[in-house]
Amino acid sequence: MMKNNINYTFSQNKQNDSWDKMEMSRLPYHVAIIMDGNGRWAQERGLPRARGHRAGMESLRSAVELCLEIGIKILTVYAFSTENWKRPQEEISILMGLLYEYIQKELDELHKEQVKVRTLGRISELPAPAVYEIKRAQELTSKNKKLILNIALNYGGRTEIVDAARRIAQLAVQGKILPEEIDEELFQKHLYTGDLPDPDLLIRPAGELRISNYLLWQIAYTEFYSTSTYWPDFRKEEFIKALLSYQGRQRRFGGLK
Ligand code: FPP
Repeated sequence: MMKNNINYTFSQNKQNDSWDKMEMSRLPYHVAIIMDGNGRWAQERGLPRARGHRAGMESLRSAVELCLEIGIKILTVYAFSTENWKRPQEEISILMGLLYEYIQKELDELHKEQVKVRTLGRISELPAPAVYEIKRAQELTSKNKKLILNIALNYGGRTEIVDAARRIAQLAVQGKILPEEIDEELFQKHLYTGDLPDPDLLIRPAGELRISNYLLWQIAYTEFYSTSTYWPDFRKEEFIKALLSYQGRQRRFGGLK
């Protein structure tokens, strides 16, 4: 497998004025992304869908770079949903292969840049080579502190809530908690995201205005940003546009100004 020599510290690459408009003290702490539009991007170019997913992988690299450059602390990306198993077997294999390739190519650099790789989802149901690579990535990077990269794989928001409910029910059956002790805080701790704060910003490229079973619990007060740009074209400039939009919002969390 080819090794990559990408250097994730690109601060000298300020590309244009939009960087200067960003208020570094008002960045979202946690950004979630639905990486959508790979297939349409490829189709519009007369290319196989796999090429779209591969270009999408480059966008993921670029999103990680930007987070490292400007200091976003958590990036959560939707790479494979529990519903994606409905796709043709060939496409599923391509996506699993890309996951494997992504870790193989990027892990050393991610580790060097202090990125902690985590996953959300029923990982044990993925193909064995992918599970092996994921575990390797998690173990190697477990102590890193600069950025948490959460990759949602075989992930569904409803499944996550069901899994949390099961774990809590087990604790109750074992007599370790009482039903009346179950509150939002306790429930949240049993989600795949555990103690991580909820996303501040959710980005959905490719124009769809739906949530697609993503982080259902966690996005209660997340700011939503949609753009018609397909994920393979969603590079740093597009990311910065999303951040500027976020910085123009007033968050009230149900309260008043
Ligand atoms: C949705 O686009 C995208 C996916 C289902 C896969 C996302 C995967 C990647 C960006 C690359 C792989 C990276 C890792 C870490 C595995 P779509 O295919 O639904 O696009 P469409 O709606 O235009 O058909």
